[in-house]
Amino acid sequence: MQKLEVFGANKLKGQIKISGSKNASLPILAATLLSNKKIILKNLPKVRDIETMLALLQSLGSKIKLDKNKTIIDNSKQNKKFASYNLVKTMRAGILVLGPLLAKHKSAKVSLPGGCAIGTRPVDIHLKALSKLGVKYKIDQGYVIANAPKGLKGNKIKFPKISVGATENLIIAASFAKGTTILSNCAIEPEINDLVNFLKEMGCNIKWISKRTIKIIGVSKIKEISYSVMFDRIEAGTYLVAAAVTEGNLRISNIVPEIIKTEINLLKKLGSKVMIKKNEVQIIGNRKIKNTKITTAPYPGFPTDLQAQIMVLLCKANKSSIIKEDIFENRFMHVAELNRMGARISTNGNKAIVEGNINFAPAELMATDLRASVSLILAALTAKGKSVINRIYHLDRGYENIEKKLKKVGAKIRRVN
Ligand code: EPZ
Repeated sequence: MQKLEVFGANKLKGQIKISGSKNASLPILAATLLSNKKIILKNLPKVRDIETMLALLQSLGSKIKLDKNKTIIDNSKQNKKFASYNLVKTMRAGILVLGPLLAKHKSAKVSLPGGCAIGTRPVDIHLKALSKLGVKYKIDQGYVIANAPKGLKGNKIKFPKISVGATENLIIAASFAKGTTILSNCAIEPEINDLVNFLKEMGCNIKWISKRTIKIIGVSKIKEISYSVMFDRIEAGTYLVAAAVTEGNLRISNIVPEIIKTEINLLKKLGSKVMIKKNEVQIIGNRKIKNTKITTAPYPGFPTDLQAQIMVLLCKANKSSIIKEDIFENRFMHVAELNRMGARISTNGNKAIVEGNINFAPAELMATDLRASVSLILAALTAKGKSVINRIYHLDRGYENIEKKLKKVGAKIRRVN
């Protein structure tokens, strides 16, 4: 099994180019199923979750061609409606094919995603909302077996809780339903806007009518298009923290700074110097880091996907900090590993108390999920000596070329078998 060796501590300096967004690419790939034409996608990140989603689309009958800088998806013969457990078990976004399959084919059998390290992550909100569009479903042996013999029909739906995936599934399905759908209490993550822009370019009729309410008038024809996916804001945030925590000086490029202003403002508040340019942010880390209290929240709040990374920075603050994880019930698995490196973090339910003034010590570590894995790399970059991070397949699900990007800015990091 592959592992990463990190030799700290170096200040990172230089430029990092941010890849396309994994969490925008996944729903957009699922939405290509609505089409029976060719779609060209650019800026898809080269990460495992995208490979898995492409394999899932192929298993559903999509023809996929990978060119150097683009992915061509031809759905003219896409006709299968069965998403198997084997493909959905490693990637929860597999459930996103349910909406488009039902919209296009009126029936589908999609595996329920398996359990997940960061929480139970049910899909009840997706299913209840789809049933309001006329879908009948049952759960049988771990599969959702669903059909809508008369096709999907628009409706008014208020989500009981803000869910990124359920909002995406319903926007895609409603785009192809008969009549008008109004979805309220929607997630408004930038990745959802990217999906909406993609669908609109394909010819769908979608409009935000208030902050969390969207109106969708179903269409029956989809255009052939070429679309470039937005930047990965979590990857960008991760490297901003990498600069802050190593007291480095990084230019984070190929981004839209406005989209990550919550993160930029927080890093400034904690002591980093941040200069905003057009498609780039330059960040200079400071030895003195202030403590704070953070609660993760749906966008535009502080993202749960950056909670583990910011925790590493707060270990170096002048006093203790508090982090409240309000999205997932079990997203503190990095805590035990960070404590093995000398951190002093205690948890109580969804609250973590992070003592400051920590100098991380190198250690052999175990990655547990995507963002937890990267937080261990950040801590290891500041620890004098050699750290070894095991089970890095989690990392490969969502970070493109992470060692290459870090090496280029001065990190000593290598992958070993
Ligand atoms: C998306 O997951 C992201 N994944 C996650 O990224 C991210 O952490 C999360 O949104 C929150 O921002 C993708 O975009 C592919 P949710 P999703 O539905 O859609 C509960 C990463 O590291 N819920 O907004 O699955 C759920 O359990 C990751 O890249 C229900 O109860 O998240 C959670 O507590 C991991 N029932 C909360 O809602 C449902 O039917 C928010 O989940 C659906 C969700």
